[in-house]
Amino acid sequence: MAVRLGDTAPDFEAPSTEGTISFHEWLGDSWGILFSHPKDFTPVCTTELGMVAKLKPEFDKRNVKAVGLSVDSVEDHNKWKGDIEETQGAALNYPLLADPDRTVANLYDMIHPNADNTLTVRSVFIIGPDKKVKLTLTYPASTGRNFDEILRVIDSLQLTADHKVATPVNWKDGDDCIVVPSISTEDAKKQFPKGVTEVKPYLRTTPQPNK
Ligand code: BEZ
Repeated sequence: MAVRLGDTAPDFEAPSTEGTISFHEWLGDSWGILFSHPKDFTPVCTTELGMVAKLKPEFDKRNVKAVGLSVDSVEDHNKWKGDIEETQGAALNYPLLADPDRTVANLYDMIHPNADNTLTVRSVFIIGPDKKVKLTLTYPASTGRNFDEILRVIDSLQLTADHKVATPVNWKDGDDCIVVPSISTEDAKKQFPKGVTEVKPYLRTTPQPNK
């Protein structure tokens, strides 16, 4: 059964390169990103895992814990780690879950049999501190993900959670935001002291509240 937005992220206990992880307990009060890759010792995955290591300070700044997963073993993950550091210039600084019996992959519907019935696809789940799923993404094995986009989504999700604003098309940090439809323009003017522009009664913008 697919994991959908708003669902509680399925909890599990699984071995990782940093020991056994009880997922909900490991997340604690943090946001989380759980992402799967098809296979160890493959080129696209090597570049992705190196990039997530390089972006760790950005995840930390946002109170996000990252964890990767494939159906390989901890032993294979540990053997592959050296290649990631050597070729990507970044050592793995977050855990990689091992899921050879596919328990987690099945819980999160990460195996798409019409793509490949043995390997996980490139799935991403962003999970809020309430353990609810805030974003799901599914990419094919041949396309490396854009983790800058994932950080951008986290920024948008955190703005919505903290300030009740949405973000428009191609929004970047620092751009104007959109007042969510559930707030009247009158209330928005009180809530957003930097000002509210009413382009249409349903399209109101305000400068990014946390800048
Ligand atoms: C890769 O990570 O390079 C990859 C993995 C599985 C299929 C195709 C590419």
